[in-house]
Amino acid sequence: MARRKIVAGNWKMNMTPSEAVKLVAELKDLVVSDSVDVVYCVPAIDIVPVVEAVKGTNVQVGAENLYIEDKGAYTGEISADMLVDAGVKYVVIGHSERREYFGETDEFLNKKVKKAIEKGLTPILCCGETLEQREMGVTMDWIRLQIKSDLAGVAAADVANLVIAYEPIWAIGTGKTATSDQAQEVCKGIRDCIAEMYDAATAEAVRIQYGGSVNAGNAAELFAKPDIDGGLVGGASLKADFGKIVNY
Ligand code: 13P
Repeated sequence: MARRKIVAGNWKMNMTPSEAVKLVAELKDLVVSDSVDVVYCVPAIDIVPVVEAVKGTNVQVGAENLYIEDKGAYTGEISADMLVDAGVKYVVIGHSERREYFGETDEFLNKKVKKAIEKGLTPILCCGETLEQREMGVTMDWIRLQIKSDLAGVAAADVANLVIAYEPIWAIGTGKTATSDQAQEVCKGIRDCIAEMYDAATAEAVRIQYGGSVNAGNAAELFAKPDIDGGLVGGASLKADFGKIVNY
């Protein structure tokens, strides 16, 4: 069965609640699609108004983070149950910004992946190499290490349903996109890694996005590649261009 494409916006730390509602309204008619899953991954404080604002549309809402415990004395954190109750379907886990600025380790991210799955959220698990790693020729070794650690102990059936985002760190917010061949090579490498860890059917089912300076001009070429099942879009998800990316 062909994998359904999934185009997700990662709003990062942008959009106040009132700006968020305005953006959803602006994008409403532009992101309509029968053939692509569309997701807005939004700041925690925007989740409730955005879930309300997308009602009756094809857009689903994702969170940008979650905590590994169910409840209790974890000031400032947000649980999976809170996300589910608010109407969230997806959650970004292991974005390079969280790994780099907030010290999130693969061991911690593995717990987040398991918690999300336990609660019925679909993880969008991010991985990617630095420019230095790419130049040293260790890109695939590094990404395989991330995938194996982040998915340790996760069942095949759950892996089949998740989304993995390949985001080369040197392409994030830099305007410097990986070429479609570079992106395809790594996305195929990730699929091969899943096949080794699990089986061919799981590898065929898992959806793998590319992220890193995706825009209205390069989306079609990237998404046409056989192992790229859509994109995780930062900057361009905050403007009308996102509609062009969805309808690439
Ligand atoms: P940009 O699209 O702004 O490069 O960001 C990519 C990204 O980090 C999405 O998660």
